[in-house]
Amino acid sequence: MCMKLLILIVLFFFTLNVSAELSSHGMVPDTMAERVKACTICHYHGDNNQERSSYYPRIAGKLEGYLVNQLRHFRDGRRYHQAMALLLENMSDDYLQAIAHYFSKLDIPYPPPESIDLKPNEIELAKKLIRLGDPQRDIPACSACHGDSLMGNMSYIPGLLGLPSAYLTAQLSDWRSGSLIRGQVTNCMSAIAKQLSYDEIIVVSRWLATQTVEGETQKTLSPDLVKRCQSIFLEGVAQE
Ligand code: HEC
Ligand code: HEC
Repeated sequence: MCMKLLILIVLFFFTLNVSAELSSHGMVPDTMAERVKACTICHYHGDNNQERSSYYPRIAGKLEGYLVNQLRHFRDGRRYHQAMALLLENMSDDYLQAIAHYFSKLDIPYPPPESIDLKPNEIELAKKLIRLGDPQRDIPACSACHGDSLMGNMSYIPGLLGLPSAYLTAQLSDWRSGSLIRGQVTNCMSAIAKQLSYDEIIVVSRWLATQTVEGETQKTLSPDLVKRCQSIFLEGVAQE
């Protein structure tokens, strides 16, 4: 299906759901599930009949602070994807917060890991970057921020497991090249991606996508790393 047509269909359903909610205001206890059906056309929702894309990121169970920051970025044009921008246009911060809250609490099964063959030296490289980083290039271990289990940390740092390798590669490459998707904002993550080579980006993304999703989110981050990602934490504080 052509992308523009898909977006029009999605927008139609989204407006329909919003107006249905407004007309029955106060009578329906939980209509968020109805309203976000427009989102779950693309974002995996645990429905076995749903066709799984190899690019669309899963958003269920992601940390609330991270999700709300991304929704605001899409709405305000700091992160770009056409359908996302159109859907979120004119939505208030409060509404975006409510959507983020809904998805962060959504507990649905994860799809199985991708099966990609990695050579032993690739596995070694990925693990080294993830667990130790590379102090010479000022790259802290990925796990120092994203959590020991890589399931996210401190509400604003997302989990890295259960995402498609194509999506991960695109995000890191975009930060590295500073292009449209999300590369226009400078933050601790874009600075790290700029230190990685394209080969490292591909290997790390593939390794992450082949891991089983397990473990808890973390709630501790060293003061140095908090400082390093200050702009991201402030984005969250500013809207509260
Ligand atoms: C037409 C398909 C489509 C629809 C409909 C859609 N999204 Fe997305 N969404 C995407 C794509 C593709 C991306 C990844 C964009 C990129 O490459 O950065 C994305 C990214 C996101 C992200 C960032 C995820 C992350 O890990 O950083 C969030 C949050 C999100 N969408 C929420 C929503 C919400 C809420 C809705 C409903 C209002 C919605 N999306 C509807 C396609 C869609
Ligand atoms: C200093 C802390 C820090 C370190 C170290 C770090 N990250 Fe991140 N990472 C973040 C933050 C904060 C975000 C959220 C960025 C945003 O809100 O735009 C993020 C986001 C991401 C995302 C986007 C996830 C999504 O759902 O779209 C990917 C992929 C990622 N990091 C991979 C890595 C990898 C791989 C490493 C190790 C090489 C790493 N990160 C090291 C802080 C860090």
